[in-house]
Amino acid sequence: MTKPRAISPSLLSADFARLEDQIRLVEGAGADRLHLDVMDGNFVPNITFGPFIVKAIRRVAQAHLDAHLMIAKPHRFLEQFVEAGADTVIIHYEASEDLRRDLRTIRRLGAQPGVAINPDTDFDLLVPYLPDLDYVLIMSVFPGFGGQSFIADTLQNMRKAVARRSDAEYLIAVDGGVNRETLETVFATGIDIAIVGSGLFGAEDIPGRFRELRG
Ligand code: DX5
Ligand code: ZN
Repeated sequence: MTKPRAISPSLLSADFARLEDQIRLVEGAGADRLHLDVMDGNFVPNITFGPFIVKAIRRVAQAHLDAHLMIAKPHRFLEQFVEAGADTVIIHYEASEDLRRDLRTIRRLGAQPGVAINPDTDFDLLVPYLPDLDYVLIMSVFPGFGGQSFIADTLQNMRKAVARRSDAEYLIAVDGGVNRETLETVFATGIDIAIVGSGLFGAEDIPGRFRELRG
């Protein structure tokens, strides 16, 4: 089980030519969940990678793999990502045609279902789906790129997600613009996991920065 105040490295900001080394560095520093940003150039204005790369990462990583699918109509690819080795599959509330169906498909395939919400989506819209969820991802930037500035209005979604936790059991993670400056503010809301990309892989000493962030 992921410990409270976990830091989950977002590989989007890692050096992909040296991906195995970068994974070893963060795992060696104690990272037990890796965040994989899948973008389709349609739901978001950027393209990254698909199941093929997830599978390659699975071969070298020990950590739990969270696949953050920023793709339109994610139901088309759920099976491929689970087969590639994703442990948690996170789909976007805004991108799914039938959220309950898709969450149940992820569960049936043997992975843990997660949902991400954009900064302008109210957490309250997720309430009917909470029993089907293992992981809630509050976006604190509009998805598409690493290195953006944290949007403080999204703290409200974090607080709502924490307040609702008495009704169902799910982990709460925050993604986007989390770094040394914003980390305390997000953990103060009571969330469990901070995704950190540029604020980790941009450091000279990556394991040192990981330990500093974990505190
Ligand atoms: C944004 C991605 C994030 C991104 C975070 O679209 O979903 O996971 O990698 O990067 P930073 O920490 O640089 O904001
Ligand atoms: Zn992400």
